[in-house]
Amino acid sequence: MTSRVTKALIPAAGLGTRFLPATKAIPKEMLPVVDKPAIQYVVEEAVQAHLTDLLMVTGRNKTPLENHFDRVPALEDALEARGKESLLDAVRRTSELADVHYLRQGDPLGLGHAVLRAKQHVGEESFAVLLGDDIIQSGGELLREMIALHVRTGASVIAVQEVPMEQVSSYGVVAPHIVDGSAEAVVGDDIPWPSVWVDGLVEKPAAGEAPSNLAIIGRYVLRPEVFEVLERTSPGRGGEIQLTDALQELAARRDELGGVVAVVYPGRRYDTGNKLDYLKANIEFAVAHPEIGGAVREWLGEYAGALAAEGGARG
Ligand code: UTP
Repeated sequence: MTSRVTKALIPAAGLGTRFLPATKAIPKEMLPVVDKPAIQYVVEEAVQAHLTDLLMVTGRNKTPLENHFDRVPALEDALEARGKESLLDAVRRTSELADVHYLRQGDPLGLGHAVLRAKQHVGEESFAVLLGDDIIQSGGELLREMIALHVRTGASVIAVQEVPMEQVSSYGVVAPHIVDGSAEAVVGDDIPWPSVWVDGLVEKPAAGEAPSNLAIIGRYVLRPEVFEVLERTSPGRGGEIQLTDALQELAARRDELGGVVAVVYPGRRYDTGNKLDYLKANIEFAVAHPEIGGAVREWLGEYAGALAAEGGARG
């Protein structure tokens, strides 16, 4: 039933329309966050969670993604000849991170469709899904916890965050299973973050119709039965095959299919396909960067002061 999780699927075939025209010729996952493309943070996170077999589902502009994780002998030779050791290490590291396989989605018919494309590669094992444009601040910690919860409960596990009610219509939202007036928690001494059983999921509900303010973020640990459910899932919202709709069935058939547990992740997470989040991710990672962090922090302080002074002068 539940097994050790070693495979990860990274969907990166979306159109990235929210970031046009930057994403006209390159995938949004290749946009840099400081000095690494967003997708590299995601691959590093999978490796930190001990996932060694990665399958990336890509689209029409896939070549830069494949190239990024491939060797470039001419570049390595040039860096070596110039004695640029740390850059050489950084370049080599990208090709040595993990065993990455690639698959084209064909038509971008939605996240559920991208997941279904991995059926043959994944087979009968449970597997992780990491959205290629989502960066989780605490690296592999969240995914490691999700895998541990999956092994403990046998459920498919999703990650959620509390968002303001006025933002729920941008997300998939969960309905926790309520027992005696409160959400049914997964209990155990070693569970670091609140984790609740899920009764239902709704994709992008209107604020007045949302069952909670717990919004799904881009990490999942799924049982292989999800493929059979996805095969029967008709296009939903936006004409796309929605992973949320398949999860709804897994949640509703808890006795047969193991149900769904949601981990409420307290850390920061950035949807780098969204302009504001992308900029925030750049600022957070720039401040933490060993080379430029100090200078960025200093400049940010000055800039914030200048903005406040401008606001004061206007007011
Ligand atoms: P998004 O909801 O961010 O959609 O997809 P999008 O098309 O990529 O971006 P916008 O809304 O047009 O700006 C969430 C994740 O699912 C993948 C995306 O690559 C992203 O990682 N995805 C989405 C696919 O792989 N295939 C699809 O058909 C749709």
